[in-house]
Amino acid sequence: MISLLIGTNRPDSNTARVARHIVDLYSALGEPVHVIDLAQLPPDSFQGSSYATKSPAVQAAGDAVLQSRGLIVVTPEYNGSFPGALKYFIDLLPFPAAFERRPVVFIGLAAGEWGGLRPVEQLQAIFSYRNAHIYPERVFIPGVYKVLGPDGRIQDERILARLTRQASGFLKFVRSLPPAPSINRTAVCSWSLQPASPAELLSSLSGTGVRALQLHLDPLREQPVVWADTARLCAQQGVRLVSGMMTTVGEDYSTLDTIRVTGGVVPDATWEQNWKNFEANARIAVHLGLRLVTLHAGFLPHDESDPSFAKLLERIGRIADLFAMHGLEISFETGQEDAPSLRQFLTRLNRGNVGVNFDPANMLLYDKGDPVAALRTLAPWIRQVHLKDARRTQTPGTWGEEVVVGTGEVDWSAFFDTLNEIDFRGNLCFEREAGTQRVADVADGREYIEKLRG
Ligand SMILES: Cc1cc2nc3c(=O)[nH]c(=O)nc-3n(C[C@H](O)[C@H](O)[C@H](O)COP(=O)(O)O)c2cc1C
Repeated sequence: MISLLIGTNRPDSNTARVARHIVDLYSALGEPVHVIDLAQLPPDSFQGSSYATKSPAVQAAGDAVLQSRGLIVVTPEYNGSFPGALKYFIDLLPFPAAFERRPVVFIGLAAGEWGGLRPVEQLQAIFSYRNAHIYPERVFIPGVYKVLGPDGRIQDERILARLTRQASGFLKFVRSLPPAPSINRTAVCSWSLQPASPAELLSSLSGTGVRALQLHLDPLREQPVVWADTARLCAQQGVRLVSGMMTTVGEDYSTLDTIRVTGGVVPDATWEQNWKNFEANARIAVHLGLRLVTLHAGFLPHDESDPSFAKLLERIGRIADLFAMHGLEISFETGQEDAPSLRQFLTRLNRGNVGVNFDPANMLLYDKGDPVAALRTLAPWIRQVHLKDARRTQTPGTWGEEVVVGTGEVDWSAFFDTLNEIDFRGNLCFEREAGTQRVADVADGREYIEKLRG
């Protein structure tokens, strides 16, 4: 998620007008922007007592900054500097997390001919002090009253061209850098919340206490009218999209035997339709600005002489190449085979954009070995982790039982120690696939993990 900070609290400001146009430029590039408008903060936000006790609005704005992959600052010039309200707001944000290694880009505007050069340079000094990654291309808007038309839009084509070039350059800059250390890496799998619409999804998410999502992409493909606005609504509410997930046609999870035959890209009858869905979902993922899509590939054979080994290698290789063409990574869920078999398959596949979505509970549900040992085996491939818990089956050949995180057989303490040991830096997504109180279950899991990790 990218956030934009409107650097004044003056009502009806030109800064807000310029900011609205910049938001549209980013949207046109496929990146919805979360707006933090100082004019919308309640007046008590700027009281001296706010240093000690932050109002909920300041807290929410601060959380949004912490969750942002990049920050756009639009500042007017007031008395040869930037507005005092902006400095006040900066001083209320958490130190050092708010700006530490966070990409930041600046736009200045003024009535005068220097176009906000002075406030931008002064802000650059502050953001340098705070170890932000400053994008070097700045845009200055002099004579702002003439630049804005009667409709409040920027009508100067040269300035628009500069802002557009800055936006696409900044997005590339943001995507090329690792996320800032403060970004909370926990998310919730959207499908766990069983939403019928983006509004329902966001409302359920707020009950979990988590502010990021791994998004199920199939609904966006199947019901574009319902889901078209998802990314914009998420950005509006300060919710980060960390990755996508897709399923394959005809998967039947009733028993271990049915999923063995129907899962992933194994069945021939559904391959053609699955391929079309991969093509469409890759385009959707790009449009959402995602980098990673996860899926169940299906049961991968242990034995290379098995005829389906070559078939799966060819199909998955084609999918990997398709996603690579779009600059995307894909990751397979763990669990359907043991870790050494998956490792062997990935080694043979030999594609740099293919990794593993590590799900410790699946290893228990499918009874495929010890999740902590598997973490080490698959370490070089792990791109994302699912926080899900389970109990192993007592009856071989049947499913284990999925349970709330912290109440099953995953040794979470050893699990996180091992993630640290292998220097895992990806996202951790809560997944809950059973039960009728998913929101409460995810919230309980989040509390458990937060306590465990201190
Ligand atoms: C308190 C204040 C001080 C200002 N000082 C300057 C200034 O030093 N140089 C300048 O070019 N414009 C100055 N301006 C004009 C603003 O740049 C102009 O109002 C512009 O529209 C951006 O501010 P806004 O977003 O509040 O509308 C000042 C405006 C205010 C309200």
